[in-house]
Amino acid sequence: MKTIALISTVGGAGRTTLAAMLATLLARRARAVVALDFDPENMLGAYLGLDTLAPNGIGAALAGQAGAWHDHTWRNDEGVLFVPHGKLTLAQAAACNARLAANPRWLARAIGEIGLGENGVVLVDTPRYPSQHADQAARSADLVLCVCPPEPAACATLVAHLPALREACADVRIVVNRLNPAREMQRDLLAMLRHAAGGGALAHRIHVEAAMGEAFARGVWIVDAAPQSQASHDLHGLAQFVDAWLPAQASGERT
Ligand SMILES: Nc1ncnc2c1ncn2[C@@H]1O[C@H](COP(=O)(O)OP(=O)(O)O)[C@@H](O)[C@H]1O
Ligand SMILES: [Mg+2]
Repeated sequence: MKTIALISTVGGAGRTTLAAMLATLLARRARAVVALDFDPENMLGAYLGLDTLAPNGIGAALAGQAGAWHDHTWRNDEGVLFVPHGKLTLAQAAACNARLAANPRWLARAIGEIGLGENGVVLVDTPRYPSQHADQAARSADLVLCVCPPEPAACATLVAHLPALREACADVRIVVNRLNPAREMQRDLLAMLRHAAGGGALAHRIHVEAAMGEAFARGVWIVDAAPQSQASHDLHGLAQFVDAWLPAQASGERT
């Protein structure tokens, strides 16, 4: 079982969108997938098909409430096993941060309780980095996907935090999301990122897709609603990259 954390140094980068999409595309490739919402924003469930924000989840266990977080998991139509974060009060959120600071391996231990087979994958959605949550996710991960829009603040902060992320996880790759290559500034930022991070770290580009928000609002996947779009092609490419990065499945395991 491998763990992949989706991390960004800015909000609205596309972490939750990509976590949900990757979970679905990997499940369609017959991978055993757990999507774990480790972001107090609690939005991943909405992307995975929940009508309301999940009231309970791993956040309550982190805040010290009785009961196991496993009790609140559910499986969506695509076969993705989902662990919600759940809603917390401000006081509970503060307790969570303190607990994470005092227990640097809290999330790693929780993920260790997930009994997926050798070929399974846990995808972890996170709040903005740096934060206790995102740092623990990076430290628990075998692969960190840094989701970065081609915008100056996002690129500059990612470059500034790359050394710390690389100290937390040996394999850190950058996924540029919402790319519009017609804009010269974005091409310049890509070149800057490639130079700062090393060519190999710049793993993937997902193009901007105007229908992305509408697909979410209608409860459909962009890869199904607009399969010919560049972004859909890119998302399949990212899923292919992750699938190839994971341990190979025996041919009988694929359906
Ligand atoms: N490639 C893309 N093209 C256009 N819009 C996108 C793309 N990726 C994400 N979005 C939109 O950007 C917004 C923020 O995405 P989200 O996944 O919630 O970011 P984060 O979890 O990093 O805060 C959402 O409205 C989403 O639909
Ligand atoms: Mg999010």
